[in-house]
Formats: sequence, structure tokens, C-alpha cells
Amino acid sequence: MTYLQKLAADTALEFAKIYGRPPRWIVAAPGRVNVIGEHTDYNDGFVLPMAIERYAVMAADKSAGEKIQIRDVAAGVEPALVDLSAPVTPGLPKWANYPRGVIAGCLDRGLNPGGLDVLLHSTVPLDGGLSSSASLEVCTATLLEAATGKKMNPVEKALLCQKAEHEFAGVPCGIMDQFISVMGRQNSLLLLDCRSRETQLVPMNDASVQLLIANTNVRHELANGEYASRRAQCEAAAKILGVASLRDATAEMLESAKGKMDEVVFRRARHVIGEIERTLHAAEGVRASNWETVGQLMYASHASLRDDYEVSCKELDAIVEISGAIGVKGGIYGCRMTGGGFGGCTVALVKTENVEAITKQIAADYKKKTKIDAAIFVSRPAAGAMVIKA
Ligand code: GLA
Repeated sequence: MTYLQKLAADTALEFAKIYGRPPRWIVAAPGRVNVIGEHTDYNDGFVLPMAIERYAVMAADKSAGEKIQIRDVAAGVEPALVDLSAPVTPGLPKWANYPRGVIAGCLDRGLNPGGLDVLLHSTVPLDGGLSSSASLEVCTATLLEAATGKKMNPVEKALLCQKAEHEFAGVPCGIMDQFISVMGRQNSLLLLDCRSRETQLVPMNDASVQLLIANTNVRHELANGEYASRRAQCEAAAKILGVASLRDATAEMLESAKGKMDEVVFRRARHVIGEIERTLHAAEGVRASNWETVGQLMYASHASLRDDYEVSCKELDAIVEISGAIGVKGGIYGCRMTGGGFGGCTVALVKTENVEAITKQIAADYKKKTKIDAAIFVSRPAAGAMVIKA
């Protein structure tokens, strides 16, 4: 039984315990890790994420009436009730604004499932920068597709979920997280052009390497406000450069406009322009199984996020430093922070044969440096959202 099959089976059993009958539908949507291409999606750039083997799963059945009831398997999480007979608006409990926003978007498109009893079981770590919110959104959209028998096209579905995050959760995120949760493919990274929204699968079949994800288990409060301010700084830089977005700018253009902009805005733009290039190079490196090159690009990405974009933190830097000290000899090609920043996870490209030793070493050294326990796991590129039982 795969990890996902077991998770789905467990969720079905829990559903039956709570609601007294088996579920009619089971759907799942994965979290993601971004291998490279950070803070480029809202600048129309490229990103290179993969779906991970951690999922939001929903089991559901029809219920009488016009309410969608969503319970969480975790004890102590307040259930959510969404009334379909009235306009769906943000409300309490707060966690349910992700599904609410998606339900509102689906209703607008004529996907009205009627009353449902739903049980949610997510294994995507919360606040870890692994897109627990996007996976919850995409899981909800997948459930509504299954329950109505209407399928949206994948781009429309991902954009609907992004809109839910903007309007119901107040987070002005880019398109990466929802796209990868919808479109992930087993054994492939996804090179996404965030301007044209075209995607290319970048096969990663080499069993000698893995992506190792280490959760710092910290999340600094400033994350949301800082995210919005980075977006504004990028827009300011694009305006000064006279381009629609930083995707259209080059390092030379930026250098010659240096005197016209604030030093901070300059550094933000330098990160984005460099990161877009690094992402394209890394995709080529993955295609060629050129792991040393990919690893170097990951370290360069981290340095740029730390120094120019200023979205790292000492805990993330600690794991990247520990990884650098272990080095290629010890089985680590590269490491960087992943996701929005200010805590959450790092992603490292590692040799499969060294995974166990690396995991132990990072855990021990990180604990020594920070007194915090990291949570470390490896994942192969996983498939995107799916219906498991219909
Ligand atoms: C968050 C956002 C994404 C992206 C990353 C940074 O995860 O949700 O859209 O902007 O930060 O790369």
C-alpha cells in the first residue's frame, strides 16, 4: 500500500466513525516543495516546484439540506459549516476560509454539490512553507468536481484556488502553489512560466538523488506583511525600469538604473532577475542529471534570498550552513530555503545512499545550534490532485 492509499483508507475509516456511513468520494491534493525559483511567480518569472508525498485528503458524502459541513480529523479543530443557500463569505473558523473561498468560486461557475458531510485529513505540515493552504484549496475544488461530475480545466481550477487565497485569506500569493498542487506529475518537476502559464514537465527519474525537506519548525510572525511589501518593491522596481514586470528586465538594465532607485528596491530586483535565470539553468541541469550544477544554483538562490531579498532567518540559514559543511562528499549537492521564507522549510538535493546519515547529522547539528527539533523527510516528485474514490 502506498502512503497515499493508506492515508485515504484511514480517512475513510474515520469518516465512517464520525458520520456513521462510508464516504462516497475520496479526493487528495499534495503540498509542494519549490526546488528553485523563489519570489519569481508574482514577477511573471519561472518556478520549478514539485508535488510532495504529503496530502490534504477529503472523504465526503451527500447530506440532507444545503450545508457543507467540514470536520478535521485532528481533535480540537472547530468544524466549519458553509451554507450554500446564502452568499458564501469569509468567516469563522479562520482555517475554513480556504475551503469557503473555493466553494464560493465553484458556485460562481455552476458547481453546486448541494449538502455534503466532509472529513479533512491533511499531512502537509501547517505553516511549514509546503503549501498546506494551497493543498486544502485544491483538495476542496477536486471534491466539488467529483461531487458535481463537472471538471474544470486545470488552469481555471488553479486560478480559482489562488483567488480564494487572495479574497478569503487575504494573502496576495502568486500562482505557483496552486498550479503545482493541481498539475504535479510523478517523477517530474514542473517548470512553470508564470507569465504565459505554460508548463513543462522536467523528468527527474534518477533514483540516486532525492529531495530532502527539513522543517525548521519556526514561523516568524512578519511573514504576511513582508510578503506584501516584497511584491510592492518589485512593482516599484519594474516601474522605474519601464517594464511591465521584472521578467522583462535584465541585469544590465538594472545596473544602469541603479542611481534612480532606492538601494533596497535595487537589491530586491537583483534577486528576482538573477533567480529567474537560475531557475532556467537549474531546469537544464535536472534534465541533464547535472546534480552538482543544480546544487550550486540552489546555494546561490539561498544567498540571494538571504542577502538581497531578506526573507530568510537564522534557523533557515543554520540548515543551509550545516548542509554546506556536509558537502558533496557527505552527499549534499545543494540546499536552500523554500517557499515564502521567515521560517518553514529548506530543500536539499541529496544522494539517496546518504539520506539516513544526512538526516541524523542535520537534526543533531540544528538542535545544537538552535535548541529546536527539526522535522526531516525525503520525497520523490509526486502526482497532483486526484480523485481516489468516485
Ligand atoms: C508563497 C506564495 C507563492 C510564492 C512563494 C515564494 O509560497 O504562496 O505564490 O510567491 O511564496 O516563491
